[in-house]
Amino acid sequence: MHNTNVHIGADVFQDFVNVYKLESYSSIFVLTDTNTSKYCLPIFKTHFTKDFFEISINAGEEFKTLKTCEYIWEQLINNKADRNSLLICLGGGMVTDIGAFCASVYMRGIDFCLFPTTLLSMTDASVGGKTGVDFLHFKNIIGTFSAPIATLVNAEFLKTLPNNQIKSGFAEMIKHALIYSENHWDEIKKTDLNNTDLEKLLVKSVAIKQEIVTKDPKEKGLRKTLNFGHTVGHAIESCFLKTNNPILHGEAVALGILAECFIANEICILFDDDFEEIITFLKSIYTIPTFSNFEEIADLCLADKKNNNGIILMSLIEAPGNAIFGIEIEKQLIIKSLEFLNSIK
Ligand SMILES: NC(=O)c1ccc[n+]([C@@H]2O[C@H](COP(=O)([O-])OP(=O)(O)OC[C@H]3O[C@@H](n4cnc5c(N)ncnc54)[C@H](O)[C@@H]3O)[C@@H](O)[C@H]2O)c1
Repeated sequence: MHNTNVHIGADVFQDFVNVYKLESYSSIFVLTDTNTSKYCLPIFKTHFTKDFFEISINAGEEFKTLKTCEYIWEQLINNKADRNSLLICLGGGMVTDIGAFCASVYMRGIDFCLFPTTLLSMTDASVGGKTGVDFLHFKNIIGTFSAPIATLVNAEFLKTLPNNQIKSGFAEMIKHALIYSENHWDEIKKTDLNNTDLEKLLVKSVAIKQEIVTKDPKEKGLRKTLNFGHTVGHAIESCFLKTNNPILHGEAVALGILAECFIANEICILFDDDFEEIITFLKSIYTIPTFSNFEEIADLCLADKKNNNGIILMSLIEAPGNAIFGIEIEKQLIIKSLEFLNSIK
């Protein structure tokens, strides 16, 4: 289900043309959104000289819907895509999720590949074979597990990505380090986001995600550790989505990591020194808002789809590089973790 053909670096376009027999496809389609059409397609075109048909959709999570899928399928049909066509998804996680989903069910599945253009999609969304769209206000509720023929990561695309989107993606890189690799954490914590070539860090971060999803493709065990930071993080994200001031997914994950490290420290599985180091680093990058809706956020944690029988089950860390999953957490401890976030602003 999960494909390991992830290429990273400046040569990905050459790799793509040389390794994958593109001439054998009857036609090639490139899916973009309004921003990646403007900022990323020109770069793509300078390296990729074969004929293709562009399908462009509106940018933004609110368009990750079945209605947009219908538009993509219509474009494929109207332009005579057949079983032997290839769909290239050029964009962030929204484009790679919806494009991969559309390809995985069009004519019972056509080949697709991913060119992620945000840090979040490079390090997370385009690795692991999960595709999907949102439906009836449920995120990613309709989807498939389906592997691209290749994922091609080129950091050149990041040059036009706004700074808040870079920080958002970086939260997932921090998470990968904290759950799986102390060495990677040592590198990550030295990073100055304004002055770092992210490619080297991306190589390691992607390798961690790949290793985890290869060992546990259907999230029966180890893959659950990737949910670290996401129980409280998702709840915070959902609360902010209802306001006029939504925060990005990775920004919410960073707050979730802070809250869940507090919880791990409270239940005496994470040492004070490690805890303080993590807090100091994250605080230097992310803004912590003031929380007043503790109950609402805690209730959202209770409704988390990863729970069992109404018991909150969390993935936590015992030390940088060492995660455990399925830890039962009381609602009261979530509230305490939010009080903690308010206290360290
Ligand atoms: N499949 C998975 O395993 C997985 C994992 C994590 C997240 N996701 C999904 O990923 C999505 C979030 O991904 P995202 O953060 O990349 O959001 P996104 O795709 O919405 O991109 C964020 C914004 O950046 C713009 N953009 C993209 N690349 C750009 C570039 N190079 N320069 C300038 N602007 C650019 C986009 O048009 C958009 O406005 C969510 O839908 C989430 O559910 C999926």
